[in-house]
Formats: sequence, C-alpha cells, structure tokens
Amino acid sequence: MKADLIYENDLIEIIIYTCIAFLSMVLVLILFFYFSRKKIIQKEFEKKDLEIHHHKELLRAGIISQEAERKRIAQDLHDDISSKLNIVSLNSHLLMTPNLTVQEIAEITGNIINLTGKALKNSREIAHGLLPAVLDKFGLHAGVEELCQEFNSSKSVNVSYQNQVQFDDLDKDKHLHVFRILQELMNNSLRHGKARNISIVFVEENGMKECCYTDDGCGFDSKDKKNQHGLGMKNIESRVGFLEGTLNINAKVNKGVEVIFSF
Ligand SMILES: Nc1ncnc2c1ncn2[C@@H]1O[C@H](COP(=O)(O)OP(=O)(O)O)[C@@H](O)[C@H]1O
Ligand SMILES: [Mg+2]
Repeated sequence: MKADLIYENDLIEIIIYTCIAFLSMVLVLILFFYFSRKKIIQKEFEKKDLEIHHHKELLRAGIISQEAERKRIAQDLHDDISSKLNIVSLNSHLLMTPNLTVQEIAEITGNIINLTGKALKNSREIAHGLLPAVLDKFGLHAGVEELCQEFNSSKSVNVSYQNQVQFDDLDKDKHLHVFRILQELMNNSLRHGKARNISIVFVEENGMKECCYTDDGCGFDSKDKKNQHGLGMKNIESRVGFLEGTLNINAKVNKGVEVIFSF
C-alpha cells in the first residue's frame, strides 16, 4: 500500500517536471521566434531606409546636374548670343546716323553680317549640345557613330564601335539617355582613366538591348568613397532607372573599366 503511494507520488512528480520542461521549451521557442522576427523586421526597415536614402541621392544628383546644365546654357546664351546681338543692335542704330559715307555704311553692314553669322553658328552649337542634330534626324546608331568619330579625331584615344541592334525611332526619348550615358562614360575614360582604347558594343538578347562599354585606362576603386561623390556616375544610374534597365559597373585599379547596361 505504502509502496503504491510512493510510486504514485513519483509519477505525479515526473508528470509535473515534464510539463514544466515542455512549457519552458515552448516559451523558449516563442521567445526565439519573436526575437528573430523582430530582427528580420528591423533588417527590412534598415534596407528600406538605405533604398530611400539612395533614391534621394539620385534625385539630388539629378536636380544638381539639371541646375548646372541650366547655368551652362544661360552662360552660353549670355556670352555667345546676347553679347553679339547687342553689338548688332548698336551697329543697326549707327546705320540711322545722317550723312554716312558709302564706306562707313559698308563697314557697319559688314559688321552686322559678320556678327549675325557668328550668333547663328553659336546658337546652332548650343542647340546641338542640347539635342545632337544627328541623333534627332538619323537615330542612335548614327549619333554614336558621330560621337566615336569626334573622340577618334582627337587622336588621344581609339574608339571601336559595333552594333548588332536595330533601333526603333519610336524610342527616341530612350535613345537620348543612352547617348548621354555613353558621352559621360567616354568623357570619364579620357579625363580620369587616360584610356588609349575604348570599345562600345550593342547587342540584343531576349528582347532586351544591352550596351557593353570598356576602356583600358587606369580604372578605379568603386568602393572608395571618393569615387562615389561624382555626379556623372549617379546620373548614369538614374538614366538607367528611366530606361528600366540594369547597370553593372566593374572597375578595378589598373584594370580599366567595364560598364554593362540594358535598356
Ligand atoms: N573610366 C574611368 N577611369 C578611371 N576613373 C574613373 C572612370 N570613371 C569614373 N572614374 C572615377 O570615378 C569618379 C566619379 O566619376 P563621375 O561620377 O563621373 O564624376 P566626375 O567625372 O564628375 O568626377 C571620378 O572622379 C574618377 O575618380
Ligand atoms: Mg564624370
């Protein structure tokens, strides 16, 4: 009888301990899931924060470069066009002076013709800078060909260009972005990389057009903060964003630069 009672007490004790152990395990598991979930959510927030910050940086770069472009156009208009038109106006008023000799009239009209010619040429150049005429009239392929010729004619770099893509005239807006990206990449290769050779290749894969750009210049460390403050690369990134494409930049010191973007 006594032995039975002891056995029963032991059993109850075992059951109680097992329940406590089980409950503590459940508690530990709940706490574990709670904290790991909290950590995941925190990580997600941090990632979102980084994305927003990056987005803001791109927007800022876009606005700054837009302002710089406006300033440049204002300067060009002011220095090249306004000043010349000013002198044309002065000369035209001079023509109204009474008793001018034939020689004086010829000299003043000569001045006017000369200055209006220059103002016309400069206004064409400003317009060309804003929207290259060849790009508008003959499309991206001809535009890039002309760009390569311009760089080749400087004799300081050799640009090779291959195109396997048929560009659609309906995508003109997109093509201006592609053109500006290449312009910036080529300027960087010359200015920063001191490259001797540049290669540009357009290919089409699975309906997506891709541009592969390489130079053999001094390259750079893309992780170095000092190389992340330029506006040029940020603008390239936001232009690729407009194109809804992807951007891959492979750059190493002394290994040149490779940039692949799709559009
Ligand atoms: N092709 C290149 N070769 C060597 N360095 C480059 C090249 N492209 C970019 N870089 C480096 O990356 C930096 C950022 O370039 P970018 O954003 O175009 O700014 P910026 O041209 O105004 O300095 C440059 O200052 C340069 O150090
Ligand atoms: Mg640049």
